[in-house]
Amino acid sequence: MVELGDREFRQVQAFIHEAAGISLSANKKALVTGRLERRLRERRLTSYAQYLALLRAPQEAAELQQAIDLLTTNETYFFREPRHFELLRALALDAGRAGRPLRVWSAACSSGEEPYSIAMVLADAQGELGWELLASDISTRMLARARAGHYPHTRTEGIPPAYRQRFCLRGTGPQAGTLLVQRALRERVRFAQENLVRALPGLGTFDVIFLRNVMIYFDSDTKREVVARLVTALNRGGHLLIGHSESLTGLHDGLRALAPSVYQRL
Ligand SMILES: C[S@@+](CC[C@H](N)C(=O)[O-])C[C@H]1O[C@@H](n2cnc3c(N)ncnc32)[C@H](O)[C@@H]1O
Repeated sequence: MVELGDREFRQVQAFIHEAAGISLSANKKALVTGRLERRLRERRLTSYAQYLALLRAPQEAAELQQAIDLLTTNETYFFREPRHFELLRALALDAGRAGRPLRVWSAACSSGEEPYSIAMVLADAQGELGWELLASDISTRMLARARAGHYPHTRTEGIPPAYRQRFCLRGTGPQAGTLLVQRALRERVRFAQENLVRALPGLGTFDVIFLRNVMIYFDSDTKREVVARLVTALNRGGHLLIGHSESLTGLHDGLRALAPSVYQRL
């Protein structure tokens, strides 16, 4: 096992803060070694200092992306925090009655469970109305999984049975025990790599932004910057949804709180 010294740990903290806005607390040393050690072995490196130096080399962009992928936490599931999906459905039905398609953004989409949950609700409530869904994440590994839309059965329990029947294919033969999101629905989602701590030009504006369970990894200055940036990507009257365990206390200029974890652009 390669030892991660205090100084090197501070360098890893600085690296991931700069690269992704993520604040790793002092008690995350074991997490860092657990996640990066294999890369050191595979690259035949004998210290974290060597690995960090490598990440700065211009020709090591792929390694840099791998390090970011490894240091992000990607836990997610279908229809997580169901009340947000009830709200989305109500908004989609309302807009649909006025003939208005919604534009929605899943801004830290991880392996795709969140955007596909959104897509099922939009397809159900707005049908062919021309709704749009952008799903983005910093992790290219997660985006690849999200694009595939293929999940073990055990991870799909949150999907309401009627949606599962309508929007998913059950694997058979070698794919038994898995579920594939129907191609037509997969193709309605636009996946893109976006880093929330960098400028986000050219995305347009949205009626609903899901920014859930990612700000828990940011310090309050980073949170403030990210929220300010995303507010400008919301239409007036548009909704910003954050994780139930997150809070925007003192950070939500331009937004009014409608309920815990639900904000609306003024
Ligand atoms: C815990 S998952 C949350 C997934 C989903 N939103 C949910 O609530 O279930 C957090 C995701 O945020 C992504 N992430 C972390 N830092 C990011 C950044 N700076 N920009 C974009 N995505 C980021 C991670 O790659 C990870 O997939």
